[in-house]
Amino acid sequence: MHRGSYLLSAGKEKVYMKDIIILGIESSCDDTSAAVIRNGVLLSNVVAGQAVHESYGGVVPELASRAHQQNVVPVVHEALKRAGVSKEELSAVAFTRGPGLMGSLLVGVSFAKGFARSLGIPMVDVNHLQGHVLAHFIKEEGEESKQPKFPFLCLLVSGGNSQIVLVKAYNQMEIIGQTIDDAAGEAIDKCSKVMGLGYPGGPIIDRLARQGNPQAYIFAKPHIAGYDYSFSGLKTSFLYSLRDWLKEDADFIEHHKEDLAASLEATIVDILMNKLRKASKDLKIKDVAVAGGVSANNGLRNAFRDHAKRYGWNVYIPKFGYTTDNAAMIAMAGYFKYQDKEFCSIDMPAYSRVSF
Ligand code: KG4
Repeated sequence: MHRGSYLLSAGKEKVYMKDIIILGIESSCDDTSAAVIRNGVLLSNVVAGQAVHESYGGVVPELASRAHQQNVVPVVHEALKRAGVSKEELSAVAFTRGPGLMGSLLVGVSFAKGFARSLGIPMVDVNHLQGHVLAHFIKEEGEESKQPKFPFLCLLVSGGNSQIVLVKAYNQMEIIGQTIDDAAGEAIDKCSKVMGLGYPGGPIIDRLARQGNPQAYIFAKPHIAGYDYSFSGLKTSFLYSLRDWLKEDADFIEHHKEDLAASLEATIVDILMNKLRKASKDLKIKDVAVAGGVSANNGLRNAFRDHAKRYGWNVYIPKFGYTTDNAAMIAMAGYFKYQDKEFCSIDMPAYSRVSF
């Protein structure tokens, strides 16, 4: 077989198709990432994080955008190098158009436009949230990955979103429930900040929770209709309880941080799974996936495995590398759109807020 093509049918009449090679670019928040996918198989995925935000306890938008400007060229260069692909071989450039931080998005969007224009190839705009859902279809070389079947439900949980998505096809998704206030990751990060732990709080809470008792403390759970979520009441309940306990013992957090983390995590996982169970039962869908930064959480991953046993769900839990922001999922989403010839024009603007 010639380089640059793949065999479509192995019958008498051999049909060769031109390779579809997509460069994906992600810059919606504080990770600059580039990935290359050939015919739906991942060749490289390079992610450059930004340590500059750690001392501020959260992402500083202006610093994020400046770091993206420094990172984007070397990250793309490295992704092409690791993939063993030259820029002239690319079929299209897929990029995150939004939602995200506008200053961060503009760096990736502008780079993608300039790069695609200079090569004379099409551009594909990708919704970051759809990218997270489609991370479940990323295939690595020689790997037989288990992929969800349509229609499936996807719990999308990150620092900015908590949604239940009904996924009908690669390009057809409907949000059936979402947070009316804070996102799950945001609540975890804020509670961790109140405890004086580092940023981001998610991985720290996860680590501490493994050594604590999830039933040690009870925090408020929301009572709202349908499939929507709310986490602001839990955050307030956590804050007020802690304030009372600290009056009794000034070192309360230090003495009980494992139990606090385990109880907080268990409450959040419980809230998330209750609504997901309801959606699965009502819609009679047993293929259930989880995506987004919070899907790295061990308590949540265990709850999914437990639901697979108890309720006969087919669960899809992403590899750790595809839980947080990455360009592999953007390239994958771009690959599906490329096949449908869904290209975008050079004047397509970035957007900071949008659902699907
Ligand atoms: O999807 P993501 O990387 O980015 C945005 O939301 O932009 O998600 C980040 C969120 C943060 O709130 C972080 O604390 C949370 O995911 N997170 C975790 C874990 N790892 C990251 N939350 C709980 N447990 C984890 N292991």
